[in-house]
Amino acid sequence: MQYLERAKLGLVKLNVNGRDVEIGDDYADGSLLWALRDGAGLCGTKFGCGVGICGSCTVHVDGRPARSCLVPVAAVADAEITTIEALAGENGELHEVLRAFIEEQVPQCAWCMNGQIMTAVAFLRATPDPDEDEIAAALDANYCRCGCYARIRRAVARAAKALRGRSDD
Ligand code: FES
Ligand code: FES
Repeated sequence: MQYLERAKLGLVKLNVNGRDVEIGDDYADGSLLWALRDGAGLCGTKFGCGVGICGSCTVHVDGRPARSCLVPVAAVADAEITTIEALAGENGELHEVLRAFIEEQVPQCAWCMNGQIMTAVAFLRATPDPDEDEIAAALDANYCRCGCYARIRRAVARAAKALRGRSDD
């Protein structure tokens, strides 16, 4: 109901990366993917298949990975949404998963990388000390047309180690 009241004013307010973001209500009946990309100008979230298969559009909704091409804007009006832009701090500091993907030189075309990285961040939060099979299973539903799977898994393992090192500090 709160959402509908906002929409009548011509703007929809979403909580994205810890901030209130206002988007035009022409996005209100669409998917979160386009509200983020076109409405909020957060283009780190990628459009791949548009039907929930490839994973390139993955964001976090209340901390859990979600395929934003399938998420109606109305369903997340009161949720906390996190996009890949939140993984780089204003002072240029990068999240360990981003850093690991760079250090392992993972991307080829990079189109799938948003989904791989956002899935990995949520996975490592829940599973800080994964083995190789757990990493492979966690990323199994994120497709990479360039076939960078071995480097993706190496980067996730590297990030896990780095994050564990930080928590031991
Ligand atoms: S664009 Fe959403 S899963 Fe492919
Ligand atoms: S790097 Fe090209 S689709 Fe994964």
